[in-house]
Amino acid sequence: MVGKICGTGSCVPEHILDNEALSGMVDTNDAWIRERTGVVRRHIIEKETTVSMAAEAGRRALEDGGVLPEEVDLLIVSTFTSEILLPCAACEVQKELGAVHAACFDLNAACTGFLFAYHTAQAYIAAGICKTVLLIGSESLSNMVNWQDRGTCILFGDGAGAAVLRAQPGTPQIAVMHSDGNAGDALTMYSRHRKDWVESEKDYIRMDGRAVFGFAVKKVPEVIREVLEKNKMTLEEIDYFILHQANRRIVESAARHLGIGIEKFPMNLQEYGNTSSASIPLLLDEWNRSGNVKPGQTILLAGFGAGLSWGAAVFTW
Ligand code: COA
Repeated sequence: MVGKICGTGSCVPEHILDNEALSGMVDTNDAWIRERTGVVRRHIIEKETTVSMAAEAGRRALEDGGVLPEEVDLLIVSTFTSEILLPCAACEVQKELGAVHAACFDLNAACTGFLFAYHTAQAYIAAGICKTVLLIGSESLSNMVNWQDRGTCILFGDGAGAAVLRAQPGTPQIAVMHSDGNAGDALTMYSRHRKDWVESEKDYIRMDGRAVFGFAVKKVPEVIREVLEKNKMTLEEIDYFILHQANRRIVESAARHLGIGIEKFPMNLQEYGNTSSASIPLLLDEWNRSGNVKPGQTILLAGFGAGLSWGAAVFTW
């Protein structure tokens, strides 16, 4: 059996923080942010939460797919920014949606989380454990960044995206997932719940921007080639490359390295910034709702992030 995406949804906070407004908070400017990242504005939670955005994105995905909440038998929320640790965010979303028959758990693989959740769902479906899976990536990064640190706060935003998968006869494409804990220091955030807690910069996202940039521009084309090779496919067979939305220059570099026109690499990071594990399903939902993806087209997803971690998936719409 293979899980086929039959519905997508997303939800972003109402409040918008553009580069101009951000320039009043930290020593930066619109021109620098646009040029170095491509980000123009980001949506920031006020009354919303990681769980409320996840639930809304999930509700919209179920509606889009014509799936009832009671039909969902597995609900995974990919997040590292939930305001509630116990129960997991997925159980809170279950409660909101009335997905009473779902087994629920959270998954944290940072910005690669949605991809890892997608592969997990495919494995459960292929093993015959589940038939209908709701996958959600939801993040409130604005709670995690140091708003005095211009090296990180300019990049991130809040939001959620979701996809619902239904089992159907077939074989899933081969998954590609990688992690390298030895390189993890490049992107970290410590929990405040530690014995020796004294507030410090460790409590916020800390990043060696150049190291992460170098990692991403190397690994993204590599993992795209790897997933295609494993599935005996070629670059030309892919209609759209939906990459994690971290930085326009990373997406452009991947397109250049692969020799593929940038028009095959949709982007929405200018509107939302980097929403971590929400970025891929958020873009997928926009691309779906705008009618850009047509049945029968082939989509490749690729993500990377803290861990360090990276991965890719390919499927037919
Ligand atoms: N506004 C204005 N100037 C800034 C700035 C900001 N927000 N941030 C850094 N600068 C300055 C630096 O101080 C430095 O000045 P100097 O040359 O006088 O020392 C200069 O700009 C260049 O800094 P640098 O850090 O080398 O910039 P960069 O080109 O590497 O861009 C990032 C920084 C963070 C945008 C880039 O490294 C990046 O996108 N990395 C990947 C991050 C990422 O995707 N993380 C998430 C992964 S899931």
